[in-house]
Amino acid sequence: VSLKNFNTFGMDVQAKLYAPFTDVYELQELLKSTSEQPLLILGGGSNVLFQSDFDGIVLHNKIKGIEVISEDDKTVLIKVGAGEIWHDLVMHTITQNWAGIENLSLIPGSVGASPMQNIGAYGVEIKDVFESLEAVEIKTGKLREFTHAECQFGYRESVFKKALKDQYVITSVSYRLSKNPKLNTSYGAIETELQKKGIDQPTIKDVSNAVISIRKSKLPNPKEIGNAGSFFKNPVILKTHHEELRKVHPEIPAYPVSKTEVKVPAGWLIDQAGWKGKTFNNYGVHKKQALVLVNYKDAKGADIVALSNEIIADIITKFNIKLEREVNIID
Ligand code: FAD
Ligand code: EPU
Repeated sequence: VSLKNFNTFGMDVQAKLYAPFTDVYELQELLKSTSEQPLLILGGGSNVLFQSDFDGIVLHNKIKGIEVISEDDKTVLIKVGAGEIWHDLVMHTITQNWAGIENLSLIPGSVGASPMQNIGAYGVEIKDVFESLEAVEIKTGKLREFTHAECQFGYRESVFKKALKDQYVITSVSYRLSKNPKLNTSYGAIETELQKKGIDQPTIKDVSNAVISIRKSKLPNPKEIGNAGSFFKNPVILKTHHEELRKVHPEIPAYPVSKTEVKVPAGWLIDQAGWKGKTFNNYGVHKKQALVLVNYKDAKGADIVALSNEIIADIITKFNIKLEREVNIID
């Protein structure tokens, strides 16, 4: 089966076996009936890069459904099938006037992947509204619940990328949203966008629209140019290291993380190092956002991984910072 339409990088690779599932029972039966390895759980394919054909089984999550579990005057608790499209969920919650995920508008991918790396944008992360999730253990087929604490969320991190990597299939996620919106417009670009439109009492729909405009102005649309969003994470470095770098690069940005650490935008580092817009035949570094690597047409995953390795080496040489990939590389 060709996976070309199932990954936003547009890698034209084949999977030996492919099976979609639409509910928990179907997934459990699939897991019982196959011993095929390796096994890959795929959602929207917007955070993966295939290096070559996949010599195993791809299980494609198609579990749908949005259910209200409980509500009171202030909040609503919803349980969402892991195969729902994230942005469609965001649009649905805005129609209902349920606040909390409007800043996460237009992030591609599925609901089930949202806790994997604790998706985040414009000052909000999924952990801010996350209540719990259900997941099936691949080894035993057993369904269990994970609480917020058990997910061990961090910046672009969760237990599912660390201690429990490749062990669970997330089948539903529950979020607690607010009926009395507390808007988060702390991210400068949102304020600017709202001012531009002359909006001084924004609704969650206005915030969502602002986020959508900002994103469209710098992130490539995967339907037009293959990509998986930020290829690297923004590195967290020691304040002392940042102070040293500032002597040479007075304008280096930094966001506070802790008493001793700051986060530096990897896009700025890669841009400064001269990579922005660099194109090698059919792939390269995006022209408007240096953190995004792109496939213009029929590029090979291995070429993009090689480019990412060159960038990592160059950023070590120039800034003594080791970038980590955000995108999941599939061998
Ligand atoms: P996939 O790519 O299908 O899978 C990603 C990983 O999660 C894989 O390892 C997969 O095996 C695993 N996985 C997926 N579903 C499940 C499941 N149900 N159970 C267990 N494991 C699972 N991310 C952000 O955080 N913020 C952004 O602002 C952002 N912007 C983006 C912009 C663009 C243009 C693109 C292309 C990507 C962007 N991303 C962003 C990255 C991506 O959208 C998110 O990581 C998203 O959550 C991935 O969802 P997916 O369903 O496509 O996951
Ligand atoms: N910058 C440059 N040159 C560039 C790119 C960025 O100088 O080519 C500078 C910008 O001027 C700005 C800073 O870097 O000062 C930050 O840039 P931006 O606001 O575009 O955000 P980012 O740090 O590059 C992160 C997330 C995005 C998320 C945005 C908005 C990571 C790895 N990336 O990007 O998430 O949408 O913030 O919150 O944390 C993703 O994970 O796939 C993703 C797109």
